[in-house]
Amino acid sequence: MMKIGLLTGGGDVPGLNAAIASAQAEAGATHISLLGFIKGWEGVLKNESVDLTSSPVNPSIGGTILKSSRVNINKIKDGPEIILGRMKENQLQGLIVIGGEDTLSNAFFLPGFPQVLMAKTIDNDVGRIDSKGSPAEGARILNHFTIGFPTAAEKISSFVSLRNGLRTTAYSHERIIIVEAMGMHTGWLALAAAMGEPDFILIPEFPIDYEYFLDILIKRYKEQEHVIAVISEGAGWSGGGYVHAEKDEIEEFEHPRFGGAAEALKTRLKKDLMRYFPARNVNSINPSYLYRSGAPNALDRQWASRLGASAVRVLAEGLRQPVFLSIQKRAGDYEIEKIALNRFASMADLHRFVDDRFYNSREFRISELGRNYISSIVPEIPPEEAYLKFLRPKK
Ligand code: F6P
Repeated sequence: MMKIGLLTGGGDVPGLNAAIASAQAEAGATHISLLGFIKGWEGVLKNESVDLTSSPVNPSIGGTILKSSRVNINKIKDGPEIILGRMKENQLQGLIVIGGEDTLSNAFFLPGFPQVLMAKTIDNDVGRIDSKGSPAEGARILNHFTIGFPTAAEKISSFVSLRNGLRTTAYSHERIIIVEAMGMHTGWLALAAAMGEPDFILIPEFPIDYEYFLDILIKRYKEQEHVIAVISEGAGWSGGGYVHAEKDEIEEFEHPRFGGAAEALKTRLKKDLMRYFPARNVNSINPSYLYRSGAPNALDRQWASRLGASAVRVLAEGLRQPVFLSIQKRAGDYEIEKIALNRFASMADLHRFVDDRFYNSREFRISELGRNYISSIVPEIPPEEAYLKFLRPKK
């Protein structure tokens, strides 16, 4: 009987249990034994696992039943050898690795062991977009979205929108509200908020010129008497430095701890805006863990399930080296493409950033192309015409 392992690592996202449940169903149907490691690569190192063959998993619950960790096996003495030893001890012929850029990067240190890599992260930064041309001109997008991003994108756009979110209180109390999005290096999630029409979006790829931003924020406030801005946690200043980062809390992959950019920007703005209006109405909110929590939406659940089953099939067919499962968009629908990991030199080749095809940095907003791309993953929230007439800029 074939025996394979599965692990989930990095930040949890909606859809992980759907992937586990469908891997389980596929393994059951094809008489493959499935072992789940507890807490990602940490469970492999400590040899802590559960037999997934007979324990039911609910696909519509968020998080991961197997728990998660952030482990850089390259930083552990003999890390790759220990991992390969565990694979042997457990008689595993392959491993399904579900993670973001850090968790997946460990596969590059185990080039000879059969692994199927599946990308999940609300940051949507595992993938690639051809450097030439625009998606409309046929530039190829590798891995159209990462599992977890559709749900998180739907939530953030809802949180800022007039229909479901912060726009109503911003309007009623003439507030400036700064909303935080996760994204250490990439602004995809903040950009996705555009489907709920915030006024400004600030992302890590385009460092902020504070005086310039302050100027256009004041102009917008004078026009409409309230403002909503979304900022990625990893955003920085054009003069250098992050808007906010805890440099004393560096983790396994050398990232400082983020979380607090919205609060830091609010504090700076409050000081400078006091002369224009009541400072008490400059607010910030950080719903970051809410983006990551809860049930997957339909797109996440469907494609997490397909990836989970597909990963088992790929291993069952016989695999000699790691492969990456990419969600490709073709003729309006998605399909899964298997790509040998050795096509990429390192994880950096699979790290997707927002560029100026997708973002207008002069106006701090999504570009038309960005809107086309994001709205292919998460629907735009239709405007409320009756309410909007109150919001129109004053002449
Ligand atoms: O997994 C990536 C991510 O979503 C980042 O955007 C964020 O910085 C990180 O998770 C924070 O997660 P945690 O608080 O669990 O370390």
